[in-house]
Amino acid sequence: MKNSSVPRRPKAPKAHPAPLDATPPAPPPAPMAAKAALSVGGKSWELPILRGASGERAIDVTDLRAATGLVTYDPGLGNTAICESAITRIDGDKGELLLRGHPIERLTDHCSFVEVAYLLLHGALPTTDQRARFSELLNRHSLIHEDMRMFFRNFPEGAHPMAVLSAMVISLSSFYPELEALSAKEEADITATRLLSKLRTIAAFSYKKSVGEPFVYPSYKFSYCENFLNMMFSTSVSPYRAKDCEIQALNRLLILHADHEQNASTTAVRLVGSTGANLYASIAAGCNALWGPLHGGANQAVIEMLEGILAEGLTAKEAVRRAEDKNSGFRLMGFGHRVYKTTDPRAKIAKTLCRETIRRKRLEEPLFHLALELEEEAAKSAYFTDRGLYPNVDFYTGLTYRALGFPTNMFTVLFALGRLPGWIAHWMELKRSGAKLMRPRQLYVGPGKIPSK
Ligand code: ACO
Repeated sequence: MKNSSVPRRPKAPKAHPAPLDATPPAPPPAPMAAKAALSVGGKSWELPILRGASGERAIDVTDLRAATGLVTYDPGLGNTAICESAITRIDGDKGELLLRGHPIERLTDHCSFVEVAYLLLHGALPTTDQRARFSELLNRHSLIHEDMRMFFRNFPEGAHPMAVLSAMVISLSSFYPELEALSAKEEADITATRLLSKLRTIAAFSYKKSVGEPFVYPSYKFSYCENFLNMMFSTSVSPYRAKDCEIQALNRLLILHADHEQNASTTAVRLVGSTGANLYASIAAGCNALWGPLHGGANQAVIEMLEGILAEGLTAKEAVRRAEDKNSGFRLMGFGHRVYKTTDPRAKIAKTLCRETIRRKRLEEPLFHLALELEEEAAKSAYFTDRGLYPNVDFYTGLTYRALGFPTNMFTVLFALGRLPGWIAHWMELKRSGAKLMRPRQLYVGPGKIPSK
């Protein structure tokens, strides 16, 4: 019996220059001494096993097809590590989340969203000077080209703000230079900062368009989150002044979304980026992937589900029984996660934040009470606990956005605003790694046969 080793991966070609001089990339995972054995039809091969920084192990199949003629089959990619990354670490069994090594709880307690964005982009929290410079850049680049402002006019009344956001992000590429063309660190910083700053303006304008109100421009007077709240809620007839607790809550919500390793939208950003497409095109793809109700669209779906349960007069217990019934076609939105098999740590933070926001704003919120009851009922359900189905980030964030006065159709836009630094950080990591074009294989099951030679 032949026993051959699948060779270690060849070096991927360096396709793009490193655009951002941030954290040096982590060393590639070391191959372990132990190997995985693959045996097919009397032939066997050895496959290297790689170990990540937190002990997770991966069978390296980079050269599998060349050596064996076989490919792996993993619909949904649930068993596939698509890259090496030094940005975010999730422990799905313990319910832990670290961004650049910092626990999410510490970041939401002690940092602003702008600081966390800097952390994701540069690998370390900013010093006071770095923070001031970053904030100044965010302010300086917050306006969008006047011609772009005209684009908003032609969207139909009631256009979903996610559709507007995505179209406007890709439009940025025709107004502002592309990142690949830049080499100096300063210029690269500006392009990333420009996107962070302008997406906030576009998000607020897309809302104003959807309600038919005149746009409110960003102002130097305000911090990042205060500026956004002002652009959203200020009108010429009713001046708006955000309360500290609202600014704080928005900072925390955006931090909760800031990054979450290889989720569907980040993978979309990486996939599009791997073709050599520019940052704007890649981020627009991320927005589109985020919109789906199984991903970032779930925060909107949660509110619609809660309203539906109340309208139908169902109790929490009855709603959970319905979700347990596969024939009902009903899922508990905001529950379950591909990686977490316990409560998502972000859901715990969002729950506390939601409670606090409702209390401080003295709101009556029957939907929040229903959400608490659903969580309690689901925790008693063997269907939910056996499958590891617990609240995810979307379960309480939508309710908190609602308590802050955001309309439901803006929730996924807010998620996109929060996720943007993570998407950019992944795009930059991809470029620095010189990653190959992402191009998976398939198992063809359609008509026609390839003639055998
Ligand atoms: N309600 C009821 N049953 C559920 C739910 C739910 N919310 N989620 C999963 N299940 C069941 C499935 O029916 C399946 O049961 P089975 O094993 O008997 O067939 C089992 O749990 C596993 O579910 P999958 O869909 O295979 O798990 P997957 O990892 O593919 O999906 C997902 C994860 C998409 C998040 C899923 O849990 C879901 O649809 N949740 C509701 C939507 C949601 O909240 N999405 C936001 C996720 S967080 C984010 O993206 C930001």
